[in-house]
Amino acid sequence: MKIAAIVGSTRNDSYNLKLAKYIQSRYEDQFTLDILEIGQLPFYNQDIENDPPAEVTAFKESVKDADAVLWVTPEYNGTISGALKNAIDWLSRVDQVMIGKPSWIVGASMGALGTVKAQAHLRDILFAPGLSSPVLPANEVLIGSVHEKIDAEGNVIDEGTISFLDDTVNNVIPWLEKQTTVRN
Ligand code: FNR
Repeated sequence: MKIAAIVGSTRNDSYNLKLAKYIQSRYEDQFTLDILEIGQLPFYNQDIENDPPAEVTAFKESVKDADAVLWVTPEYNGTISGALKNAIDWLSRVDQVMIGKPSWIVGASMGALGTVKAQAHLRDILFAPGLSSPVLPANEVLIGSVHEKIDAEGNVIDEGTISFLDDTVNNVIPWLEKQTTVRN
């Protein structure tokens, strides 16, 4: 199984990027996680959507090739980041590569509620007709106070978080397999 990870923070030291890398390595025997770049994407503009810059085409191709998308979202001012919304807007247009492609969501923030608002918004956005992505129910991975749970090297140091991630992956794999069967 091949999963594309889209991380909503573009900063070098991002906890969400560290979380994506941790998931990539901890569950490498269960799926391949391809972490995609979104910081290089230009602002979505309808004038160029049919003949977009090469970065956009490559990004869409990577998503198209994946069996599923893992969204790793920070929370900016109570919602997803502008960079993430921009990437989603590109995916929603022309060849609409998200339609029918299953998604699961995780997120980490320094606040106590661990991206709960951003994740709720993201689920809603993924229901838009141009995206129409089935999202893994329940299994909400909300990592609050992340600065106390992921160390500088990117290790998750909180046992409760690790065990919740393990349970989620145990749930997501059969769910994704079912979604893939339905789509094919
Ligand atoms: C934040 N942060 C934040 N945290 C939160 O829990 N709820 C929020 O609404 C916000 N809003 C917010 C806005 C902006 C513009 C920034 C830069 C930050 C703090 C945020 O959780 C923290 O910076 C994380 O470290 C961001 O994720 P990455 O970049 O580490 O992946």
